[in-house]
Amino acid sequence: MANFKEMAYQNILVDRKGTIEYITINRPEKLNALNRATIEELSNAFKAANSDKEVRVIILTGSGEKAFVAGADISEFAHFSPEEGKNLAAVGQETLFNVVENMTKPVIAAVNGFALGGGLELAMSCHIRIASENAKMGLPEVSLGVIPGYGGTQRLPRLIGKGRASQLIFSAEMINADTAEKWGLVNKVVPISELINEATALAEKISKNSPTAIAQAILAVEAGFAANKDGFKKEIDCFGNSFNTKDFKEGTTAFLEKRKPNFIGE
Ligand code: COA
Repeated sequence: MANFKEMAYQNILVDRKGTIEYITINRPEKLNALNRATIEELSNAFKAANSDKEVRVIILTGSGEKAFVAGADISEFAHFSPEEGKNLAAVGQETLFNVVENMTKPVIAAVNGFALGGGLELAMSCHIRIASENAKMGLPEVSLGVIPGYGGTQRLPRLIGKGRASQLIFSAEMINADTAEKWGLVNKVVPISELINEATALAEKISKNSPTAIAQAILAVEAGFAANKDGFKKEIDCFGNSFNTKDFKEGTTAFLEKRKPNFIGE
């Protein structure tokens, strides 16, 4: 069996203080965008934390003061075929996003800036979200000619309801931290200088309670949403279908060329 503890990470930082594990996505020059290597490292770090008895709560954040995660790394998938697109979504969901959601210990996302696309999807896979005042959240995928593929079409309606989720997904707009709090997307908003302290205080409160009871509570909460698991599969198919369109090519090329896309609807 792999010994996760001995793994050296290039794209994330892992730090332990008492019973709390801090996992920090550390590609600030790319606004912590999730490339394949980062997803793999996060997956390993979460699995390691889950199997370590000393860890009671995990806090996930992004490095720097600008971004939690600005999405999946667009440069990595811009040339993908529909099959590769489906595979990207399926592997990501299975190896990271579902792993985070199904941890037996609470995961708190400390959203310290942009949480867009895969970044918001990652924050939504966590059990609890606290945001800094400068945080901005959204699912901008349709502005690139694709749809959310890491569970966003499923987890966003669960958290904020179908109407508001549809608005965010179809418009690709970003909301600020106050709106996110009003809509129930984040539990609390604090100044960025207090974000980690706030998350730590909550983690310490949680750490005093029974780990076995909390593990069961997570199972019970998640079971309530298990009935419509099919939506995740549908999302993977629809995500893959987007890769067959001229709009997808145009949307991703426009982002990488730093210009506005011109969608023709094909
Ligand atoms: N994938 C790959 N690279 C990304 C990225 C992503 N999702 N988000 C940001 N980056 C890169 C930029 O390309 C840029 O790299 P460069 O310096 O090598 O050119 C760097 O991170 C800084 O981003 P930049 O766009 O210059 O910062 P900004 O302050 O002008 O804008 C955002 C910030 C978040 C509005 C903008 O980066 C953005 O729209 N990102 C994409 C968001 C998105 O669509 N996510 C969903 C992906 S499915």
